[in-house]
Amino acid sequence: MSLYESLIRPLLFQLDAEAAHEAAAAALALAGTLPGAKALLSAAFAHRDPALERTLWGLRFPNPVGLAAGFDKDARLAGTLPALGFGFVEVGTVTWRAQPGNPAPRLMRLPEAEALLNRMGFNNAGAEAMAERLRALGAHPVPLGVNLGLNKDADADEAPALYAKTFARLSPFGDYFVVNVSSPNTAGLRALQDKLKLERILDAVAAVNGDKKPVLVKLAPDLDDAAFAALVPFVAERASGLILANTSVDPHLRHAALEAGGRRREPGFSGGGLSGAPVRARAAELVRRAKALTGGKCPIVGVGGVFDAEDAWELLSAGASLVQVYTGLVYRGPSLPGDICRGLVRRMRENVPAPLPAGAPR
Ligand SMILES: Cc1cc2nc3c(=O)[nH]c(=O)nc-3n(C[C@H](O)[C@H](O)[C@H](O)COP(=O)(O)O)c2cc1C
Repeated sequence: MSLYESLIRPLLFQLDAEAAHEAAAAALALAGTLPGAKALLSAAFAHRDPALERTLWGLRFPNPVGLAAGFDKDARLAGTLPALGFGFVEVGTVTWRAQPGNPAPRLMRLPEAEALLNRMGFNNAGAEAMAERLRALGAHPVPLGVNLGLNKDADADEAPALYAKTFARLSPFGDYFVVNVSSPNTAGLRALQDKLKLERILDAVAAVNGDKKPVLVKLAPDLDDAAFAALVPFVAERASGLILANTSVDPHLRHAALEAGGRRREPGFSGGGLSGAPVRARAAELVRRAKALTGGKCPIVGVGGVFDAEDAWELLSAGASLVQVYTGLVYRGPSLPGDICRGLVRRMRENVPAPLPAGAPR
């Protein structure tokens, strides 16, 4: 058990889940301002090995383990997070206008299931504030992704124009972009996982994508098989890659996760999306199916329940070119990206001469 798990996590878990996140974020933000702190963090946590490097969309990733969207919604920590050993960092979801998100409580831990339930609702400071912050950040030590969403009060007809406007404002500052049509906490957002609606959004973004920045699409894990099979090849034709997947609203997964902690229903917490260990198998399955549906021609970022190198290896073997973590960071702590990288290198050496698995061209 790591120092985080034996000492820090019990303290953080005494706090309400969102307060614990704010405390961890404040500690990281502070570290970002102290001279030499990033170098210390990097020495303590990061693991570099040329065998982990890969190039996608012309971007060099020092390793395939990234931070998933939602942890650093306003890009406050984008300068510090690479020091933990992430191979890339995705900020957001950012919406065109600032919005407060849903009322608290909106984040809940299910420790027995190693899961989180969240219904944050795209709380963020808006595109302008993120543009200013990213401008001040300057060069990126690792690729920086920007995850784009839609304001809660936007009409469905406005979606193409709003995604395009948000993209256009931020495109100078990100290395890749994500059209997020899969968060469960904005009413109507998932309905944009429809060929025609998505095509309008991607066309509108393409029309202002003069620099030809890679634009990926993040899908939900809850599409039925037929919808997934229809949508994935369509997205693969029109976007630079797929992110699989967002949090789940599957009632069976939710029920099992609540039951693991002896709770049938959590008072005061309805709705929200599930993440962490309970979505692990689903994420791997979706990556496997997407790889088969696209013939391995479209890069896939696998995300869901990655807590260690075995989980990452599973997603990479299923066809992901990169993986991301969020909930694993809450349960395993800041050593997670480095630990996964060390484990992946070990795994690769065991599998010599097989290189790091990759579903898509590097
Ligand atoms: C508290 C919380 C907030 C999240 N916010 C976002 C978000 O703003 N945009 C997004 O695309 N995904 C968001 N996600 C989903 C994660 O990026 C990821 O897809 C999902 O949690 C599965 O990965 P995990 O099991 O490693 O957490 C959020 C997840 C959590 C737990």
